[in-house]
Amino acid sequence: MNYFPAEIIRKKRNGLPLSGDEIGFFVRQYVAGKIPDYQMSAFLMAVFFKGMNRQEMVALVESMKNSGSVLKLDDVDGFKLDKHSTGGVGDKISLILAPVLASLGIYVPMISGRGLAHSGGTLDKLEAIPGLNTRISLHKFREILLSAGFVIAGQTEELVPADRKIYALRDATATIESLPLVVASIMSKKLAEDLDGLVLDVKTGKGAFFPDKNDALQLAGNLITVGKDFDVNVRALLTNMDQPVGMACGNWVEVVEAVDCLTGNGPQDTMTEVFALATDALQIAGIGWPETDMQAKLQDAIDSGTAMEQFLHYVKMMGGDTRVLEKLSRYALVKPVVVKAERTGFVAELDARQIGIAAMLAGAGRKNAEDIVDPDAGILLKVKIGDFVRAGEPVAELFSNQPDLSQVVAAVQEAVRIGDKKPEPYQLIFGEISPEGELIISK
Ligand code: URA
Repeated sequence: MNYFPAEIIRKKRNGLPLSGDEIGFFVRQYVAGKIPDYQMSAFLMAVFFKGMNRQEMVALVESMKNSGSVLKLDDVDGFKLDKHSTGGVGDKISLILAPVLASLGIYVPMISGRGLAHSGGTLDKLEAIPGLNTRISLHKFREILLSAGFVIAGQTEELVPADRKIYALRDATATIESLPLVVASIMSKKLAEDLDGLVLDVKTGKGAFFPDKNDALQLAGNLITVGKDFDVNVRALLTNMDQPVGMACGNWVEVVEAVDCLTGNGPQDTMTEVFALATDALQIAGIGWPETDMQAKLQDAIDSGTAMEQFLHYVKMMGGDTRVLEKLSRYALVKPVVVKAERTGFVAELDARQIGIAAMLAGAGRKNAEDIVDPDAGILLKVKIGDFVRAGEPVAELFSNQPDLSQVVAAVQEAVRIGDKKPEPYQLIFGEISPEGELIISK
């Protein structure tokens, strides 16, 4: 069936539901280069304002998933599970969780994304490792999965090309924070992976795309039920994105922190989140260790060095230089600029969104779709919410190749609010989310 693209945009703009055929046509023609970016941009903005009903959203997921090849992993002898986050700052969890799960016998075929707006992207972080290329063929994807037990790679012309193109366009057209667009982006990638299970890290708070808890829960409910529609067992945790995850935000700095986590020296919040998601993953996979054994097994994956070995194996197969990871020597290449506390007191706020914007301005993210990210750019926090700091002490170090960092320094200073009173303890994980989008367990 042939449709007029402008008619489809007009229909959505006027708040009318689109048929599955119309949505399929629009996505197919866009991927084929027959619908230009300007019409897709207008379509995305219309969806942003008018939303989509459930049938439309499922049709969008389906057509984006089928825009390329869908993996067939029947010959993989084991449980295939993936993890995805709805977007955060300092969120290097995938780099740690995937090798941890692989070292415990779960296969993790992960298609990830690049940075979006103020949030970082797993692919940009991985590509900070010299030589590592995240655009690989389907053949290589399978080969690495079977050999390393996990693979993290990007969308390509073969794998969910619709998300590859639309994702970059959404970033440049302020159309990220749309529930149906986020659901379609995440689930098209995940359903193309031939999964048995999926764990989701649904973020809420200042640095999340859905800062309001109820909006984040609604998003989670939709992600879980779409997964169910496609026979994938999905579990979701609601986690706090008021402050960044860990201390590092950017590209190479986050790789370094991920390696610290894999070698037993990572920040506590990051490991808590990794272990919480890993526990969900093991439960979905039917690996029924009791809770205490579960923690011990996860800790052993780190302490024994097997997760790190698996990570190095993956990096090598992706063309990356593992020597820099063993020595972490590139860290010293950019001289840090220190941001100091403006007053004495307790850190009351560490606004994740502001820190994400500062990292982007330092070069770690893109202002425009065609910008090239700087692998060295990033921020290393020296404090977290609740810490006591004296005026003049460092609150962060900035890494950047930009000549003028005054805007970045100002953004970090704005993000760090210091008060007289010690704030309430920071709650990192709010709990598990039901398919109805309700918080069911408070951890
Ligand atoms: N992660 C994705 O893959 N897509 C989104 O739209 C948001 C987070």
